[in-house]
Amino acid sequence: MIEIQELTKVYGETTVVDRVSLTIGAGELCAIVGTSGSGKTTLMRMVNRLVEPTSGTVLIDGQDTREVPAYELRRRIGYAIQGHGLFPHRTVGQNIGTVPHLLGWDKSRIANRVDELLSLFQLDPGQFRDRMPNELSGGQQQRVGVARALAAEPNILLMDEPFGALDPVIRSKAQDDLLAIQKRFKTTVVLVTHDMEEAIHLGSRIAVMDGGKLLQYAAPEEIIANPATDFVAELIGGDRPFRMLSLAKVLSLVEPGEAAGDPISAGASLREAYAECLWTGREALPVIEDGKLIGRISRNELAKCAARPS
Ligand SMILES: Nc1ncnc2c1ncn2[C@@H]1O[C@H](COP(=O)(O)OP(=O)(O)OP(=O)(O)O)[C@@H](O)[C@H]1O
Ligand SMILES: [Mg+2]
Repeated sequence: MIEIQELTKVYGETTVVDRVSLTIGAGELCAIVGTSGSGKTTLMRMVNRLVEPTSGTVLIDGQDTREVPAYELRRRIGYAIQGHGLFPHRTVGQNIGTVPHLLGWDKSRIANRVDELLSLFQLDPGQFRDRMPNELSGGQQQRVGVARALAAEPNILLMDEPFGALDPVIRSKAQDDLLAIQKRFKTTVVLVTHDMEEAIHLGSRIAVMDGGKLLQYAAPEEIIANPATDFVAELIGGDRPFRMLSLAKVLSLVEPGEAAGDPISAGASLREAYAECLWTGREALPVIEDGKLIGRISRNELAKCAARPS
């Protein structure tokens, strides 16, 4: 768990992070979103003390980070930066093994970990382990950068716009990889992005920053339903109702009754259900859960849901 309390950074006359307080639960993915210069990177870097706070406190699992040597913090906390930041003269394997090596892991343990992570990110170890970073595509470099951040099995992973440079297809793949890995290792992730779409997709909670201040910190559903300020609403964009539909599950709108045609799964999004109704011209869809029919979902109710922004 990360507890950020009244955290402030002042450069000269300018306060770039202004008394930000937020708590990130263990295993959560907190997405920090905001426009350029809003203080996202500075806020995140104060967590592993790459930037020393001017005032305020960061507790990790109850321990004040000022009590821990900065180098130790940085080994304990994985850090992936924009544009991957790989060491250009070291192989992929050496890059990924950087922190385990610093921690004194033995060679075979490092080699196993490197291969495990490469496989996890769908990079064939035999093919990629000994390549140099410049022999990889941008997307592959980025994945190696994230693999390196995860190498020493950190409980906490800080990611600064890790997918910024990727094309949309690879980006969405990399996002899904991250979610799968985060689930598997129960890593607590803090991810900076300027893309609200990405924050909504990845975040269990979203922190919206503007001018060094935290405007809102809440679950994506809550941010969409009740944006704290006009600025937050603007970041979300004009299709809030449809975003709501994307987040809520069919299960939340099931009613008793029957319907004809192909069923939809209770775990599908309302948006998928609505699209299915519209495309197939049906007034309702049968809903199944674990292979069993549990009721139906109606186009009418879906339309009401889409029309109601909060
Ligand atoms: N070392 C520094 N000295 C002085 N000012 C700084 C320093 N680092 C950052 N700043 C300023 O602090 C503000 C916040 O910077 P920060 O990097 O946290 O923004 P950001 O939200 O990450 O922006 P971006 O989306 O562009 O990466 C900016 O106005 C920046 O110019
Ligand atoms: Mg930044």
